[in-house]
Amino acid sequence: MSQKVALITGGASGIGLAAADALARAGHHVVLADIQAEAANAAVETFRSQQLSASAVQLDVSSEETWRSAIETVEREQGRLDVLVNNAGIGEGGTLESTSLETFNRVMAINVNGVFLGCKYAIPLMERSGGGSVINVSSIFGIVADQLTVAYSASKGAVRTMTKAVALDCASRNSGVRVNSIHPGFIETPMVMGAAAVTPAEIIEPYVARTVGQTPMGRFGQPDELGDVIAFLASDASRFMTGSEVTVDGGFTA
Ligand code: NAI
Repeated sequence: MSQKVALITGGASGIGLAAADALARAGHHVVLADIQAEAANAAVETFRSQQLSASAVQLDVSSEETWRSAIETVEREQGRLDVLVNNAGIGEGGTLESTSLETFNRVMAINVNGVFLGCKYAIPLMERSGGGSVINVSSIFGIVADQLTVAYSASKGAVRTMTKAVALDCASRNSGVRVNSIHPGFIETPMVMGAAAVTPAEIIEPYVARTVGQTPMGRFGQPDELGDVIAFLASDASRFMTGSEVTVDGGFTA
């Protein structure tokens, strides 16, 4: 049987890069699908230098056209697709008052339309490949809300219930594709650390203290702690799981 293939959106950074690493080490060819082509290509070089099988494709998850062409590229170059990690997302904050409609629409276009389009274009190829596993990266804010992230919370809640709807659709058609969501807590990635770096100390310091204080395990998570759970959901070890929501949050939502 040919090597299994996994496509990871936002695979050039943070949780996506850690997921790609875990999946490559589990024997997959990994396709890093990212809007940042240079960063994705650099990551591919690092994987190859470690004898891991990887390639890159440029993709804007909010664009139907680039999804169509990315999946065509995967089918032409790899001949199959077994795992889709819908991970790319943006984390713009804002209260109801400070969030413009433009910001709301941008967050929804990437975080929600991106997952919808990924499922729509990748799942048919996964079915032609004999089935597989989709992992949608939501957030703790898809389960509980935060008044400082109105658009982001809305988008991640949508990912949570869309995951269940698509899981039911696939199961009812006996398509062989399982669909689950994961809900990370606060993870030390460029998204979080970058936002922290540009936020005034008098705002970020109490926020971090409050966040860590609300996390029973008392710390932020690391990207590889998500990568390992994603690799589990991609594997046959999770073969009776579909439509599930898996929190990886140090107990934040417990
Ligand atoms: P990150 O900023 O480190 O990485 C995001 C990646 O997505 C980047 O490589 C970026 O180029 C790519 N990307 C952004 N927009 C894109 C687009 N339109 N098309 C294709 N690629 C695009 O972020 P991080 O923290 O690794 O986040 C990954 C996912 O995890 C996101 O969906 C985020 O909402 C979610 N998440 C992160 C948490 C955290 O604490 N870091 C907590 C809960 C969820």
